[in-house]
Parts: sequence; C-alpha cells; structure tokens
Amino acid sequence: MCGIVGYVGSRPAAPILLEALKRLEYRGYDSAGMATVFQKLVVRKDRGRIADIARRLKLAEMPGNLGLGHTRWATHGEPSRVNAHPHLDNSKKIAVVHNGIIENYSELRKFLQSQGYRFASETDTEVVPNLISYFLRQGKSLERSVREAARRLKGSFALAIVSVEEPDRVIAVRQDSPLIIGLGNGEVFLASDIPAMLQHTKRVLVLENGEMAVLTPERVVIKKINSGAAVEREPMTVNWTAEMAEKGGYPHFTLKEIHQQPEAVRDTLLAPEEELKKLARFLLGARRVYFVACGTSYHAALVAKYALAKLAELPVEVMISSEFGEVGSLDDKTAVLAITQSGETADTLKAVASAKAAGAKVACLTNVVGSSITRMSDLICYTYAGPEISVVATKTFAAQVAYLLRLAINLAKLRGRSGSKHNKLTAELKELPDVMREVLAKVDPQVKKLAGRLLPANDIYLIGRGVGYPLVLEGALKIKEITYIHSEGMPAGELKHGTLAQIEEGTPVIAVVTPGEMRLKMVSNVEEVKARGARVIAIADNGKDLREHVDELISIPHTEELFSPLLFIIPLQLLAYYITVGKGQDPDRPRSLAKSVTVE
Ligand code: AGP
Repeated sequence: MCGIVGYVGSRPAAPILLEALKRLEYRGYDSAGMATVFQKLVVRKDRGRIADIARRLKLAEMPGNLGLGHTRWATHGEPSRVNAHPHLDNSKKIAVVHNGIIENYSELRKFLQSQGYRFASETDTEVVPNLISYFLRQGKSLERSVREAARRLKGSFALAIVSVEEPDRVIAVRQDSPLIIGLGNGEVFLASDIPAMLQHTKRVLVLENGEMAVLTPERVVIKKINSGAAVEREPMTVNWTAEMAEKGGYPHFTLKEIHQQPEAVRDTLLAPEEELKKLARFLLGARRVYFVACGTSYHAALVAKYALAKLAELPVEVMISSEFGEVGSLDDKTAVLAITQSGETADTLKAVASAKAAGAKVACLTNVVGSSITRMSDLICYTYAGPEISVVATKTFAAQVAYLLRLAINLAKLRGRSGSKHNKLTAELKELPDVMREVLAKVDPQVKKLAGRLLPANDIYLIGRGVGYPLVLEGALKIKEITYIHSEGMPAGELKHGTLAQIEEGTPVIAVVTPGEMRLKMVSNVEEVKARGARVIAIADNGKDLREHVDELISIPHTEELFSPLLFIIPLQLLAYYITVGKGQDPDRPRSLAKSVTVE
C-alpha cells in the first residue's frame, strides 16, 4: 500500500509534492521519490523515510511546475533505490508512480522484453511506463497510450503518469486503489488520500474504478478507460481542514487522535438518522447477518455483537474478513456489513466481493469518503472521525462503536425490544463525549506513571467478560502493535483453560471490570491470577470492592454496560502510547505495519 501525489499548475511543483508526500507517509514509508518535468525528466528517489531522502537528494529543489511523487510500502521487490518509484520507460521520457498490485505484470514483462524492452527493478510497476511507451511508438497520443496500457493491466492500480513529450499534463488512472483530484485556481492536485491536498483545496473529485483523468492547470477531463467516453462529475467539498491532518500541538498523531475521540463520537452520533434507519432495515430484512472486518474494526464489530444481542435480540455472526471465504452459507437472504475505517483493506474487499458473488446484499461502515468499499456496497454508511493519520486505529474505533451502538438502539426500537429504555439509552449515549473528555483528563497522569513501570514487561495479559472481551482484544492489539511487547487479551473465564499456566510472580494482568452482572465473576478472576503472583491492574467503575485485591486501580465513571467500551478503551490506548514513547519508539509508524493493508 503506497501513497501517490501529482501536481500541475503555475507554482514550482517540488515543494508541493514533497509536503503532500509527508502527509501520506502513513500509507507506507520504506522508500520514496519524485519526478518533475523541466525540459527533461528529473527523477530523484531512494530507500528510507521521506524527510531523510528530501535532505539527501534535495527533493524540494527539483525544477518544473509539473510532477509526481510516491511513498512506498513494498509489495513486489524489497525496499531499495532501484525499486523505489517513480519508474521510467527505457527512453526515460515517461515517469509513473503506482499504488496497488498489477497481477499480470510477469506476462506483460515477458511481452515487453520480446519487444526489446529491458527492466531495471523487481517491481510490478515498471511494466507500466514501458507499456505506455510501446503504444506511443505506434504514434498514439500520451492519453491514448495510457488508456491502451491501462486496459491491459489486471489487478489494483492507482497511477499517475507524466511525459516530457506533453509537459503540460498529469494523467491519472484508477482501478481499485484510491485516487482523489483536488481543484485549485489554475492548478490541480492529485493524491491517494485527502489530507495530502487539504492545505491547498477542499474541492475534490473522486476518480471511480475504471476511470482515467487528464489534469491540466485549467481543466480536468475524466474518461472511462475501456470506452474512452467522457464522464461528468461534480466536485465534492470535504469538511476536513488542513490542521485536522496536522498534529495540532500533540507530539504524535496517535496521542492527538486518542484525544479526538470525544469529537469523533459526537460527530458520528450526528450521522444522518435516515442512513441509520436504512441500515437497520437492511439488517432486519435478512435471514442471516454477518459483520466482516479486520483488526480493530473486528473488535468494534464484536462490541456491536453484544449490543445487538442484548438490546435488539438480533443475532449477528462476526467474522474476520480473511476467514469469511470459508463460510459456505451465503445467499440472497444474507446481509453483510463490512466495517473498515480505511475502506481499502484488501481482506475485507475480498470478503465483500465473495459475498456479492453469492448474491448477498452488502453494506459498509467506513471513515473515508470515496474509498473502494463504497463502490462495492449496496448501502454506504460513514463514521465521522476525520482523517486518522496514525497507523494505529483509535478514534475510528470509538466512532465505529458509537455508530454501532446507535444502530443497536435503533434496531431495538424497530423490534420493540428493551422496553422504553431507548430514549434513556439515546440520551446517555449523547452524553458520552463529555464523559470521555473527563476520563481523558483524569486517567492520563496515572496511566503515564503506570506505563513507566511496565516498560520492562515481556508479556502483558488482559482479561474481560461480556462486552469487556472485545475491549481486551483491542487493548492487547494496541499494546502489541506499537510497544512490541507480547500482549494477549482473552475472556476471563478462559484463564483456567490454559493461560493460567503462564501467570507467575510479577506477571502483569490488566483486568477490565466492566459494569453488569459479570462483574462479580471478574472479581474472582482477579483473585485467581493474584493467587499466582500476578501484578493486577484493574480498570473499573466504582472499584472500591477491588481495591484490596489489586496492585493498581484505574477508576472509570459509571455508564451503561454496553457503552463502557467507549470509556474503558481510553486508559488502554494511553497505556500503549506511553509505553511506546517510554521505549523511544514512534507510535505513529510502527514497524512492518501500514495504515491500510491493501494486500491480501
Ligand atoms: C489497528 O490499530 C490496526 N491498524 C489494524 O488492525 C486495522 O484495524 C486493520 O488493518 C483494519 O483496518 P480497516 O479498519 O481500515 O479495515
């Protein structure tokens, strides 16, 4: 998964491209490069982080008012200068950057080699500039050559192309991987994601699958790749400001986004009622309901499972997207809700494709306008968490949970379940952003100190019951993906079935004691691990009865059991963050991970 950017206009392209790339580094950051056109193609690229490459190769000083850039998360070919984008054709007249995977690149490579082309890199991308060159040599225009080449590509590809032969335009192509066009005054921007262009414009055009666009300073022409037919599309105005994509005074995007959760929940609770009602009816109309998701989104889906069962008495099967294909019982009476904040996760897109192929109806809940999942869904629902720049999902988790809790209340009302509780629940849910703010302020200093004591830990176990179970899964994921400490979340009732053998003197165990009838059982689970010498940190509301049983108590204000994930997740996120920073690691860009995983 990579980030691509492009610019054509009256200003020097290089500083604009470089700034845009920095805002897309979360999409991948093992190598980067830029190409500008100034009498000839100027290309500078290397392995490493953008800031280092920019310094080393003076990226900002590249000449020309037209160009493109790329920040890479390797899929074909290890991170290296030669594999970094942009890639050129043999005549060094065409430069291409690519996000996605070209599945038929080896046969195209063989064909082009038979036509005398040579390849320098191990990437799939390098076939693109040479395939364009192959058509240019037949006398076709750049636009036509790009279209002919794109028609022969299989797989997922967002492309930006420039050529010295036509130095007034950038050509964009979109199939599956996202591509957004930003409209300025006498200048046009291109990027994989909105934050890259926010400081210049909020008017965007989303390229759809199977489309290409010719960008010149005054005009954008969108066409269908296959037919060449022109496409008319109205620009959209995004409501993200440039600073929303900045750190806004926090040391890391991760901390900023943890603190943005109250706003993310507040804004998501304001999502259009009509959209929510449509989703409720969509689920009610099905014989079987599946939620598919990965990682943090999967944990949000599990929270929804409990809420839908307890409030609406609606059974939902929650599946990890990559396992969904193993499920045979899909038909036209099946409803699938795909939950994916990026809307680009390949496993989830794949699961949705297989559901549609089986005749199932698909809805999606995503945080990104115009993301790929929206093109595959019969019903599109949005969370309103704003751009989440850090690789770790935090505020998008809170937004997803808030949306799904609202859905559960809606469904309970539609099904005449939970008595007259709906209005009370809705009112309490609306109060939650304020309570979240209170928790953020209250627990931060205590958690920061606790983190210092957990720095040397090799293993951290988390236990919870009921809706506390998805919470501890999410807490464990936060800890392992940014602190790199092994961490495991599990149902507290499972301890005695094996994991208890792991608990010895001083083993840290975080007990998430959510309100509800399971609370008493949690207290005995705390005793169970305490008896084996564990160091128990309890997160609880009104934890007086726990105080003498635990080594540390983090108190959380009381709320409805099903809403407690929105409060209890905060100390877990902060703990992971402060341990990470205490270890001198970058929480925003953990090793080996990328913001959205667009490979299966
Ligand atoms: C969460 O912190 C991770 N970044 C990861 O598990 C993520 O939740 C997962 O890749 C799913 O992403 P999505 O919501 O964009 O589909």
